[in-house]
Amino acid sequence: MQTNNKVFTFCFKPLVILAAFLLLRPVSLYSQDAAAGQKLFKNNCAACHTLTDAKLVGPGLKDVASKVPQPAEEWLIKWIKNSQALVKSGDSYAVKIFEEYNKSVMPSQALSDDEIKSILAYIANPEAVGGGAAKPKEAAKPADSTAPAASNPNTTLYFLLGLIILFLILIGVLSGVKKSMQRMVNNQAGLPEPEPVTYNWDYCKHWLRNNKKIVAVVLILLSGYLSKAAWDGMMGIGVYQGYAPEQPIFFSHKIHAGENGISCVYCHSGVEKSKISNVPSANVCMNCHKGIQEGTVTGKTEIAKIYKALDYDPDKQTYGPNPQPIKWVKVHQLPEHAYYNHAQHVTVGKIECQTCHGPVEKMDTLRQFSPLTMGWCVDCHRKTEVKMAGNPYYDKMHEELKKTYGNKPITVSMMGGIECGKCHY
Ligand code: HEC
Ligand code: HEC
Ligand code: HEC
Ligand code: HEC
Ligand code: HEC
Ligand code: HEC
Repeated sequence: MQTNNKVFTFCFKPLVILAAFLLLRPVSLYSQDAAAGQKLFKNNCAACHTLTDAKLVGPGLKDVASKVPQPAEEWLIKWIKNSQALVKSGDSYAVKIFEEYNKSVMPSQALSDDEIKSILAYIANPEAVGGGAAKPKEAAKPADSTAPAASNPNTTLYFLLGLIILFLILIGVLSGVKKSMQRMVNNQAGLPEPEPVTYNWDYCKHWLRNNKKIVAVVLILLSGYLSKAAWDGMMGIGVYQGYAPEQPIFFSHKIHAGENGISCVYCHSGVEKSKISNVPSANVCMNCHKGIQEGTVTGKTEIAKIYKALDYDPDKQTYGPNPQPIKWVKVHQLPEHAYYNHAQHVTVGKIECQTCHGPVEKMDTLRQFSPLTMGWCVDCHRKTEVKMAGNPYYDKMHEELKKTYGNKPITVSMMGGIECGKCHY
């Protein structure tokens, strides 16, 4: 018996502690789930739901597990996977919220049970991962203050004109001072007043001859400016930086991506997977605008254009037979001979949309932010270090490049990113 007790204290006790420790582990697993859930929530749900009580397109999801029919997890998984199936099955709670939200359909979410569970873990306890995914609506910001800082030829022109005018004023003042001093000197010496000079061509010639230095400076500045303008004009053929055409519908990125925090990829769904980043079809708009029929800025007029394009009757909630695509005006357009790929930059290169497109989430009217010239592409490839660590796409290439460059940072250009053939067919 005595020995048995010893065996217990010396062998079992540590084992019990270890077991207890292992049993506690799910707590930390849970917060890992919540972290994964945060990302999934941001990408799939944040466009329509907040984590507070505030309504967005759908209800705020604070404490949602206690509101829905129990057992909550089972119901929520069914709902999230296919809310319409649940509504059609006659589930009374499902029918109730569907009616409450103007029958706007929550799209089916292609997620696994585990993914949904981690989203639910995150919704239940957003603080566990720092929360903050669903900030309350920010008050409308003052006017779009995002004009590109790039120097505008007009500002240079105004600057030079200003400078010339300043020179002329200075000359006027100085010659005035000179004249009155002459008059004083003449008075003291008892000489007659100097003849008043009339401003005619002879006077100008005289002045120009006596002020060669000023004339030379002005001429140099002027010719410098003119040749720079001519050079920019030639280099700028086909450069549309700042181009911001009016669109057929007042669609504001500021309202959607900014104030309502809708993720870029929700609408531009091709951007992570393919060469081009598609502009969403009107059906995507309807995910939300079936319910939201009025905007704060434009009332019903602009949203009605979506319905018109789809030949949709918002009162009867029926689609007519004559849908017509919305004719968005293309903002960005590289010439045919240049090859650019979004997935390569966004997914592989991990570059933010804003690096190239600027602060889109603050633009009411979308505008081309970068010049999109060859120099712009090449310049970034020279400067940008490729983030190779932890990016499986690069494992093999990295080993190869290390042989040539040792542990120096690898830029895109070192991998061949400035070879003509990479960007030209
Ligand atoms: C396009 C908008 C949209 C997206 C995206 C969306 N929902 Fe919804 N959701 C709604 C609407 C609208 C409702 C209200 C019910 C209805 O009209 O179908 C709703 C209702 C819900 C409800 C019921 C809330 C309650 O108070 O009972 C839950 C839970 C929910 N959504 C979870 C999610 C989760 C989780 C995701 C992401 C995986 C998600 N939703 C993505 C629009 C959306
Ligand atoms: C609610 C849907 C939606 C969201 C969210 C959205 N966009 Fe757009 N985007 C559009 C539509 C519609 C257009 C076409 C109309 C226009 O140019 O304003 C567009 C156009 C663009 C264009 C110009 C396309 C062209 O013609 O060259 C860029 C660039 C762009 N979006 C980037 C972004 C970025 C970056 C984000 C995230 C910060 C974003 N978008 C979020 C719907 C969306
Ligand atoms: C994920 C939800 C969502 C999607 C998708 C969406 N919108 Fe919106 N839209 C909103 C919200 C939220 C508002 C703000 C309503 C308000 O002003 O209160 C809004 C407002 C608007 C307005 C009115 C702006 C104003 O204040 O007058 C227009 C026009 C509009 N959207 C057009 C579009 C178009 C076109 C598309 C498709 C390319 C689209 N929306 C897709 C959520 C969405
Ligand atoms: C490395 C720079 C770069 C990044 C990062 C980038 N874009 Fe672009 N984007 C471009 C260029 C260049 C074009 C013009 C492509 C063309 O005309 O072939 C473009 C065009 C577009 C267009 C117009 C449709 C098209 O593909 O021609 C949309 C929409 C767009 N971008 C959205 C996005 C979104 C959303 C993101 C982030 C997820 C993003 N872009 C990230 C450079 C970039
Ligand atoms: C903001 C920086 C940035 C800009 C601007 C940019 N790129 Fe890139 N580009 C990268 C990075 C980073 C990579 C590396 C990612 C990778 O390996 O795919 C890359 C890779 C590429 C590749 C693949 C290179 C290879 O060796 O496989 C091509 C092609 C390319 N870019 C074309 C363009 C074109 C065309 C433009 C201009 C319209 C452009 N890029 C503008 C950063 C940029
Ligand atoms: C990183 C991508 C990239 C690389 C590398 C690249 N180009 Fe370009 N090139 C472009 C883009 C983008 C344009 C279109 C610029 C525009 O429309 O302003 C262009 C335009 C051109 C043009 C047409 C003139 C013009 O300004 O529109 C010529 C010619 C050209 N490139 C030759 C070359 C040669 C030769 C090389 C190899 C030394 C090369 N390019 C390498 C992206 C690239």
